[in-house]
Amino acid sequence: MIVSVDDFRTAARRRVPRWLFDYVDGGSYAEATLLRNRSCFNEHPFLPRVLRQIAQPDTTTTVLGVKHAFPLILSPVGMGGMLSAAGEGAAARAAADAALSMCVSHFSIASIENLARTVDPARLMFQLYIFRDRAITADMVRRAWDAGVRTLVLTVDTPVTPLRERDARNGFRRLSRLSGRQICQMAFRPRWTLGVAQRSDRVIGNLVPYSMGRTLFEQAATISRSLDPAIGWADVAWLRQLWKGQFVLKGILHPEDTERAAGIGVDAVILSNHGGRQLDGAVAALETLEANVATAAGRLEILVDGGFRYGNDIIRALTLGARAVMVGRPWAYALAAGGEKGVRDLLTYFHEGLQSGMSLLGADRIQNLQEENYQVPV
Ligand code: FNR
Repeated sequence: MIVSVDDFRTAARRRVPRWLFDYVDGGSYAEATLLRNRSCFNEHPFLPRVLRQIAQPDTTTTVLGVKHAFPLILSPVGMGGMLSAAGEGAAARAAADAALSMCVSHFSIASIENLARTVDPARLMFQLYIFRDRAITADMVRRAWDAGVRTLVLTVDTPVTPLRERDARNGFRRLSRLSGRQICQMAFRPRWTLGVAQRSDRVIGNLVPYSMGRTLFEQAATISRSLDPAIGWADVAWLRQLWKGQFVLKGILHPEDTERAAGIGVDAVILSNHGGRQLDGAVAALETLEANVATAAGRLEILVDGGFRYGNDIIRALTLGARAVMVGRPWAYALAAGGEKGVRDLLTYFHEGLQSGMSLLGADRIQNLQEENYQVPV
């Protein structure tokens, strides 16, 4: 029975081959930051109010000018469409139907054009990486705009990919084809193998026009050589002037970087340690929230991800000043566990949790969480 994100995770583990589950579930090196992304939630206890006559809290809000049923967005998950034959389109539909939005990874299986035909592109953001060949990046920016997307998210915490021990053990590193171990693991998941792996369109959809390999694994191997590890603030400024819509930086933790982003005219930052997959030992984004909100001083919106698993976790971030929260692995697990319905159920779970938490806290609407102090004074 599925009643929590952890149950979706358990169901996902049973459905997809070990190497794919580990790719989604794991972090870098000791996975200390991955653990910290959960343990940090205990540091911010609530101080609730009672008897406030709230029949049903209003969870609606806007994020970068787009109305959302509640402040939750799906984080970009590279190759997320491998988790189910339903692909990323199922997650995008579930999000759009719930009046939420999805940030599509540059390395999604479905191309941005495809997803923008599936749902209203106002419900999509496009997450970009910068290639050494800037012409490829500029072309990708144009494609996202032409598809109707109006929010561009540049991820800045991945100049290199650190060792992810689980991936290395599974042979899922620097490869250009499936290893024997991976094929063995697939034999234990025949339904997934027949439904997903055998489909010839399982490639990274956005990379197809640039001849980066004919198979998923060739493409994955090409990516690491093609991304520019030495991007800087000049590249951010270049993209800012190129992109006429909302422009967001993902992977900020230090308030001085938020200050710089504000100076360049960035519309929002996503505080993130990439789900504990990049700098092991890094602080959890939630821990940096108050300082970044203070620095932003209303000049840009602050979003946050990493370890959000309960409706109450959303409340914690909002009481610390976040505009909205994002989740990565939860939707990936839900997609693997139950396709589109799985993601719908996940979103309902978060919404109901948020509503009950707001009632119990004494907050009647989202703005109240941001304005009133529900923190235990330290
Ligand atoms: C990611 N993440 C990520 N981020 C990004 O900007 N581009 C990407 O392509 C990916 N790919 C990716 C793959 C997988 C398998 C995972 C788990 C994560 C990071 C993601 O957007 C987000 O920051 C974290 O997943 C948030 O933490 P939680 O919600 O997974 O705990």
